[in-house]
Amino acid sequence: MPLVSAKVLLEHAQANGYAVPAFNCHDLVDFQAIIAAAETEGAPVIIMASESTIDFAGFSYIEGLAYAGAKEAKIPFALHLDHGRDLDNVVKSVQHGFTSVMFDGSNLSFEENIRLTAWVADIAHRVGMSVEGELGQIPGTEDDITVSEQEAGMTDPDLVADFVERTGVDALAVAIGTAHGLYKGEPKLDFPRLTAIRKATSVPLVLHGGTGVPDDTVRRAIELGICKLNVGTELRVAYTSSVSRALVDREFRDPRPLLSIARTAIAGVVQDKIRLCGASGRAKAISW
Ligand code: G3H
Ligand code: ZN
Repeated sequence: MPLVSAKVLLEHAQANGYAVPAFNCHDLVDFQAIIAAAETEGAPVIIMASESTIDFAGFSYIEGLAYAGAKEAKIPFALHLDHGRDLDNVVKSVQHGFTSVMFDGSNLSFEENIRLTAWVADIAHRVGMSVEGELGQIPGTEDDITVSEQEAGMTDPDLVADFVERTGVDALAVAIGTAHGLYKGEPKLDFPRLTAIRKATSVPLVLHGGTGVPDDTVRRAIELGICKLNVGTELRVAYTSSVSRALVDREFRDPRPLLSIARTAIAGVVQDKIRLCGASGRAKAISW
């Protein structure tokens, strides 16, 4: 069964110096594009559904798409709840066969973030799911969650060891200068901070806000310990702009050719990110 825990993928990435690309998905078109591109590249990937995707599509449809994909996929992938803030959604992700969950307690106090993340880790680990926590706050808008520059705070390396030890997370999302959504200028990542975080813990580190981060910056972040790169906006833009362009060019009376154009556009972005992460060809070395 190619549907595996994200922990398996992230540990392989960490041991081999690359990152697993993680993509936000919404529907069949995204799922097929991501899995097809990953197969072309022979790469492991993580498919993520955010809470607003769950609002849009429902847990059962996302579960159905993932398990349908898993019947045929020739590469290992994980199904991940992204930025879970509602504990009800976290529990439902367990019930619906997700293999990974992020509890985003970054808007809470340090102690409350630890308390709830540890609770999530306890229930998720019982069924073999891996757990991602977040320390520090990433600015920008991720679906329905908006964090202003003022609210945002970078991850404090001095809190990392305590957070990881007391929560039992398998991966940690860090705030080191990226933001959700489209950047107004070039993002400047705080690499000394990333280095200090890497020294403070051995769990795989996660970079959110992957859209629009220059390639060299992503490569450097991976060298310094990032093992998972989250990309959402770039796929949504590929989807909507390819459809918009096609509709300007001609009239469609059948959605299938139109959605095929979108699928090809999304797969192109996915393939580029897989290569950027150094994940091409890695699937064969992972047991699943
Ligand atoms: O959790 C999802 C990612 O952080 C996506 O960020 O939309 O800026 O690529 P992005
Ligand atoms: Zn994110």
